[in-house]
Amino acid sequence: MPVKITFLPMNRTIEVDLDRMPYQHHGKPRSFLDVAKNFNIHLEHACGGNCACTTCHVWIKQGAELLSPMEDDEADRLDMAADLQLNSRLGCQAVITRNEGEIVVEIPAWNRNYVSEGGESSFLTVRKTED
Ligand code: FES
Repeated sequence: MPVKITFLPMNRTIEVDLDRMPYQHHGKPRSFLDVAKNFNIHLEHACGGNCACTTCHVWIKQGAELLSPMEDDEADRLDMAADLQLNSRLGCQAVITRNEGEIVVEIPAWNRNYVSEGGESSFLTVRKTED
């Protein structure tokens, strides 16, 4: 049975059988970043999914019980993230452990810039506005 994942704010819902989803070699297998790469959904990942930045920061709006528990590395890194909330996770480290149910995940502001400004890296967008 596939798991249903909705990415906000773009409100894109996908259904995926995680047991059959190929690993895209970014972040942990079955992580949000892995799912996003499989479905061409943009999720910043400046460090390549190695828990060394916070650009893949997401908020879990629904379905947190379907995810792997947070490990120390992720918690330490998240402490440095902007807009930290109780439901914050790193998209490259939070692994979807159950292949059923429904998850809603929101990508915070800096990645929304990416969506609204036509697909450039948010880092480029920031630089542009400073010119
Ligand atoms: S992509 Fe850098 S911590 Fe997730």
